[in-house]
Amino acid sequence: MFVERIKNGWVVHAPAKINLALEVLGRQPDGYHKVETLLVPVRLFDRLVYSPSAEPLNLVVRGSRTCPASLLEADANTNLAVQAVQKLAELSGHPPTGYLELTKRIPLQAGLGGGSSDAAAALVAANAAWKLGYDRQQLARVAEQLGTDVPFFLAPGAAIGTGRGEQLERISLGRSLPIVLVQPPAGLSTPVVFAGLNLARGEQMPHPQGWCRELAHRLSRGCGLAACKHLVQNSLQQAARNATEWIDRMADAMERLPVLVHQMTGSGSAYFAVCHSWRDARVTASRLRGGHWQCVLATRTSM
Ligand code: C5P
Repeated sequence: MFVERIKNGWVVHAPAKINLALEVLGRQPDGYHKVETLLVPVRLFDRLVYSPSAEPLNLVVRGSRTCPASLLEADANTNLAVQAVQKLAELSGHPPTGYLELTKRIPLQAGLGGGSSDAAAALVAANAAWKLGYDRQQLARVAEQLGTDVPFFLAPGAAIGTGRGEQLERISLGRSLPIVLVQPPAGLSTPVVFAGLNLARGEQMPHPQGWCRELAHRLSRGCGLAACKHLVQNSLQQAARNATEWIDRMADAMERLPVLVHQMTGSGSAYFAVCHSWRDARVTASRLRGGHWQCVLATRTSM
């Protein structure tokens, strides 16, 4: 996340993420699923501007080529950036005021963490604007009340997420990976995909595979992705395949292209491929364009 001070407030560039690996290990007593996942930030950013004012909190959302305005929800009350500012106001005693301007570039219902990243950006901006002086740990405690992935976006770099995904161990992968992101025309709802796993409360998945930590450790020790591509796995992909035909359609399309690995991110529906080089990523993206996708983008992960 990059934060800039401007004349009327703060601008935050809120990144997307992919889950290079995601394992579901069972159910927690609170009903959430216990996971282990390798989260990596991606250079695709929403832009959030927070301008302090004495007026009640107001939000304007704009679309973009990768997240068309026609898909944006009109109801500001459900927007996670608004909820973040409201939650910080409630906890700090500051009135919930100001003007939020959000330009969406990260596709919605994609498993790319866009809403969570916007919420983290709003927390950071309001914390600065209201001079609250909350440190990262205090903000993380607010963030995890807003959503599982929100704490991840408060700090830079990759992380292993455990618990329901909110307990983070930062790691350096030591490199930036060229990737292609594809969002199909239909998004997926996170609770619906988790519910599709069909795990009874308290039941454990039979054999945790350890892909996630193994992949993180191998990459951080300098191992090439080609040598550990069998560890790029996502336990939610089967449930997502049952919910939409688009996962298989994206997998089929990727099979014919020069990519190292391909898989769904998070609970979908976006799909990513890691490529050998930036050139391969651009070639892959240009070959995919013209299909029925909502958007196709060549970009990179951040270190
Ligand atoms: O935490 P967040 O609001 O992003 O989660 C959305 C929903 O996804 C939860 O209400 C829950 O149904 C499901 N979920 C889950 N296990 C997780 C994360 C999310 O069951 N580890």
